[in-house]
Amino acid sequence: MTQRQGLTVWFTGLSGAGKTTLAHYVFKHLCEAGYPVEMLDGDIIRQHLTKGLGFSKEDRDENIRRIGFVAELLTRHGVIVIVSAISPYREVREEVRAKIGRFVEVFVNAPLMVCEQRDVKGLYKRARAGEIRNFTGIDDPYEPPLHPDVECCTHLESIDESVAKILKFVMTMLTSE
Ligand code: PPS
Ligand code: MG
Repeated sequence: MTQRQGLTVWFTGLSGAGKTTLAHYVFKHLCEAGYPVEMLDGDIIRQHLTKGLGFSKEDRDENIRRIGFVAELLTRHGVIVIVSAISPYREVREEVRAKIGRFVEVFVNAPLMVCEQRDVKGLYKRARAGEIRNFTGIDDPYEPPLHPDVECCTHLESIDESVAKILKFVMTMLTSE
C-alpha cells in the first residue's frame, strides 16, 4: 500500500509573536482539505507530555526533543504535524529538523517591542516586574533562525497573508512527491 508522506511544520518565535494563531489557521485549512493533521502546541504539551519541565535551557531543550520525537513518529506515518513552540535554541531546532527530515521551519517574527505591547497573556508585564524569571526575550535568549523556510512578520502582514505564504510552501512540498 502506498502511503502519503507526512510533514512537520514547525513554528518558532517569541511569546506573543503569533505562533499559535497562525498554526491554528494552517491546521484548520489542511483539515478541511482532507489531510490528516495533528497539532502540538508548547502551551498544551507542557500540561501533558512535558509536564513538570521549566524554562531553563536544559528543560526547554528537553521539551523540544520530546515534541520532536512525537512529531517524527507522526510524520513517518503520513501525518502533517503542526508544532508551535518558542524553541529558542537554534541547535536543538536543527537537531529535530535533521531527525524528522520532512520539515518546514516557519519563523514567526515580530519584534520584542510589539510582542510586549500585545502582551496577550500579561506575561511580559510579570516578567518585567520580576515575577517570572527566564522569560524569553526579557532575561532569556531567543536565537532567530538563520534560514527559515518561511518568515512571517506579523506586525507588518495580515494573518491571511501569513497563512497564504505558509500554505503555499507547504502545498508545494505536499504536491511535489
Ligand atoms: S519552549 O521555550 O519552546 O520550551 O517554550 P514553549 O513550550 O513553547 O512554552 C512557551 C509558553 O509558556 C509560557 N511561558 C513562558 N514562555 C517563555 N518564557 C518563560 N519563562 C515562560 N513561562 C511561561 C507562555 O505562555 C508561552 O506560550 P506562547 O504561546 O509562546 O506565548
Ligand atoms: Mg502560543
